[in-house]
Amino acid sequence: MKEYEIAIVPGDGIGHEIVPAGIEVLNAVAEINGFEINTQSFPFGAGYYKKHGDFMPPDGLDVLRGFDAIYFGAVGLADVDDTLPAMMFTFKVRTGFDQYVNYRPARLLPGVQSPLRNKTSQDIDFVVIRENTEGEFVQVGGFIRPDIADGMAFDTSVFTRKGIERIARYAFELAGRRRKKVTNVTKSNTLIHSLAYWDRIIEEVSESYSDVVYDKMYVDNASANFVLRPERFDIILTTNFIGDILSDLGGALMGSLGLGPSGNINPEKKYPSMFEPIHGSAPDIAGQGIANPIGAIWSAGLMLEHLGEPKAAAQIVKAIELTLQKGVLPVDLGGSAKTMEIANAVVKNLHSE
Ligand code: NAI
Ligand code: MG
Repeated sequence: MKEYEIAIVPGDGIGHEIVPAGIEVLNAVAEINGFEINTQSFPFGAGYYKKHGDFMPPDGLDVLRGFDAIYFGAVGLADVDDTLPAMMFTFKVRTGFDQYVNYRPARLLPGVQSPLRNKTSQDIDFVVIRENTEGEFVQVGGFIRPDIADGMAFDTSVFTRKGIERIARYAFELAGRRRKKVTNVTKSNTLIHSLAYWDRIIEEVSESYSDVVYDKMYVDNASANFVLRPERFDIILTTNFIGDILSDLGGALMGSLGLGPSGNINPEKKYPSMFEPIHGSAPDIAGQGIANPIGAIWSAGLMLEHLGEPKAAAQIVKAIELTLQKGVLPVDLGGSAKTMEIANAVVKNLHSE
């Protein structure tokens, strides 16, 4: 029997609610398809930091490296400095394991009402491909005399030819398997060095993909188009910071932030990839058992697809759709189903296929 070794990192807040929901679905789909998911859970996150002074132990990455994939919730707690979670955990894993693709599909699921009037599943169906290891989030910067009247702070963005080329290739390849359109969302009219370089290299890469339509849109206009004409997008290729923002907007177009899945992917499979919902630890609703687990469950589907189990991945997505269509809706979508009730319904719908 095929076995997969999965590191589980629930993290903080609702991570402890949505990740168990996802694991329940993973185990059920594994049984149906005749493979096994072996899990080992790690308490990394802001809670761990409060006890140990770091988000994971010094050998944390070495430990995670041995797994086939990492299944993650979110990190961050209201009483822990919020400049730390990304720096000490999320970015550390993404860069440490060269997970340079952040893959974030947004699709209006059947049974869910989009906040956009008259838009259907035909209209809202795109993937944000966000560069995930450099750009605006390299966290290179500093403070100069921050406490005096002429104090200063700066962050630097870093864009490399290698980094741009590889994310562009990934996006064009993916577009070739979808509706064959890549929109580069940029802001090169004002960031005239870094993003002009970004555009230039993406244009170069686009020349090797003659079957894919390439266009470019500034992020201010793209934000408006997300709301007014989402049907014009297939693959959105964008930078770390812009992709972070646009993918939450994508989640909102789907009806809730709680629906959006993501994969932090190392396409070469040299290192484990990490799968997590797009949202954070939602301290405002943590501990109530009402978090929407769909984004986390769908992320488990993305993980199985990455691991080479596309049939099981498709079954998860289908079961999510059936669950929502039957009206089992979480609180954030206007329903009353609790986190584990939704997971149980998804498992039941896996079996009803
Ligand atoms: P958030 O995504 O945690 O929450 C934003 C809003 O969406 C909240 O009102 C929340 O209740 C709601 N929401 C999010 N997920 C939901 C779900 N599954 N079901 C129902 N409602 C949901 O973002 P926020 O509030 O900006 O950040 C909270 C904490 O999470 C911070 O510490 C932040 O740094 C951290 N964070 C961590 C991320 C990660 O670990 N990858 C990503 C984003 C934020
Ligand atoms: Mg985000």
